[in-house]
This record gives sequence, structure tokens and C-alpha cells, in this order.
Amino acid sequence: MQLDGQTALVTGAASGIGRATAERLADAGARVVVTDVDITGGEETADRIESDGGSATFHELDVRDRETFLSVVEAVDQKSGLDVLVNNAGVGHVPKPVEDITEAEREFVFDVNISGVWNGCAAALPTMKARGSGAIVNVASLAGVIGSPNLGAYSLSKGAVVNFTRTVAAEAGPHGVRANAVCPGFVEGGLGEQYFESFEDPEAARERSRRGYALRRLGELDEVADAIAFLASDAASFVTGESLMVDGGFSIQ
Ligand code: NAI
Repeated sequence: MQLDGQTALVTGAASGIGRATAERLADAGARVVVTDVDITGGEETADRIESDGGSATFHELDVRDRETFLSVVEAVDQKSGLDVLVNNAGVGHVPKPVEDITEAEREFVFDVNISGVWNGCAAALPTMKARGSGAIVNVASLAGVIGSPNLGAYSLSKGAVVNFTRTVAAEAGPHGVRANAVCPGFVEGGLGEQYFESFEDPEAARERSRRGYALRRLGELDEVADAIAFLASDAASFVTGESLMVDGGFSIQ
């Protein structure tokens, strides 16, 4: 998988899957535009890439802010063109039944996870379509394709991302632009950790969860980053509208 000479923007790249993805894309030769609301973590990701010999810059970006998203994309486009957009930024919520999730909790999740992906696609599509190339990868979730007790707002938001990805792919395909999603199962790190830490005995919860995976383990950040890099690269040149399960075989059982 090579991305030499290409420019890739990753949202939520200050930590977790986003950071691993930014580093993976840089390894593949991309100039990476690291973005996040977390300035310290975002700058750290860019510094790590640069000190490994890669190329990265950091822009503060709240994906809920459509105007800022557009201006960051325009600035990147003018400088080098935008080849790859990874809409990774996402948030979860405290696990609880649908009827107990407050409107504020629900709207916050929808804002980041749904509007954030929408804003990214809306910002990148005009330039990608005009140039006749580009690849968008949206980070959805296993929770977006299976019923996920106590994750009502999160699973609804990720299900929306899965189908929105198909719509974007159908609209943009005739212009040479691809859009795909990844659906990770729980990984060691990031939001997965927050979820398990919400249980009285996090390790017991992790162990119960592991048993649901065909591979009998949770994923690694790099394993998701590799799948994202594949979909972003020409190795996936005839793949669009797809939601790739990166879930250790959870959903096939
Ligand atoms: P994380 O919490 O480590 O990373 C999320 C990043 O998004 C953080 O750096 C955070 O500052 C940033 N962020 C939050 N709100 C933002 C906003 N409004 N604008 C810009 N950046 C914002 O969590 P993780 O796990 O790396 O999550 C990345 C993506 O992977 C999310 O979309 C999540 O839903 C998805 N995912 C994670 C799984 C896991 O087990 N960790 C499993 C399935 C999906």
C-alpha cells in the first residue's frame, strides 16, 4: 500500500485509532494533516510522525464546525490538493438503556459522529470531484451493524455512517471518488477502554467480550489503521461504498 506524494487529512488524530492511522498513512508516504480538538495530543501526533522521518502538520479542528472544516480543507487543497480524508473523530456515551439516555447526551453523540462525518464529506467532495480522484474512509463501528445493548445513541450514529457512506460513494463514484467505511470491533485503546472502564470489573467485562470474537481477542489500534490505509490506497481502487468489518470475526457468528 503506497500513498507516495498524496495528502491525507485525518480527524480525531490526537489519540487512539486516529493517531495510529495518521502514522500508518505517513509510513505509506502520505503528507498527513493531523486534526483534532485536542491541540496537545494533535501536535504530539504530528511531532511523532516528523521525528520518524514522515511529513505532518497539525490543524485544530472540531468536526462539528462545518465552516472551519471547509476552511481547513480549502487551505490543504490550495497547498497540495487533498487525496485522502479519514473521518475518524468520534465519541461514545455512558452505557445505558435507550430510555435513560438524555437528549443532551444523544445530540452530542449525533453531532460529533454524524454531523462530523457529514461536514468532512461536504468539505472534501467538491475538490475531490473537481480533480476526478480521491478516497474517503469513514470510521463507523461494529456497533453500527449489530444490535448493541446500552449503546443506543452510539449505535444509531454509526449505523447512519454506514449508510451515508454508501450514499456518498454512489454520488461521488461517477467523478472518480471512492468512499468506504471501516467497522471495528472493540480495540485495546481509545473509546473501547472507556467502555470497559465503565464496568465495576473492567477486566471481567473485557474477558466476556473477548469470548464473542472468533479470534478470542480484541483488536489492536494498528489493525484498524491498516484496514483504513488499505481502503485509502489504490490497492482498493475498485472498492467503494463498502463497510469493512475489522472485528476479529465477531459479526460472522
Ligand atoms: P479516542 O477517544 O482515542 O479518539 C477519538 C479522538 O477524537 C480524540 O483524539 C478526540 O479528541 C477526538 N475528538 C472528539 N470529538 C471531536 C470533535 N468534535 N472534533 C474533532 N475531534 C474530536 O477513541 P478511538 O477509539 O480512537 O476512536 C476513533 C474512532 O473509532 C471513533 O469514531 C470511534 O467511534 C471508532 N471506534 C472505536 C472503537 C474502539 O474500540 N476504540 C471500536 C469501533 C469504532
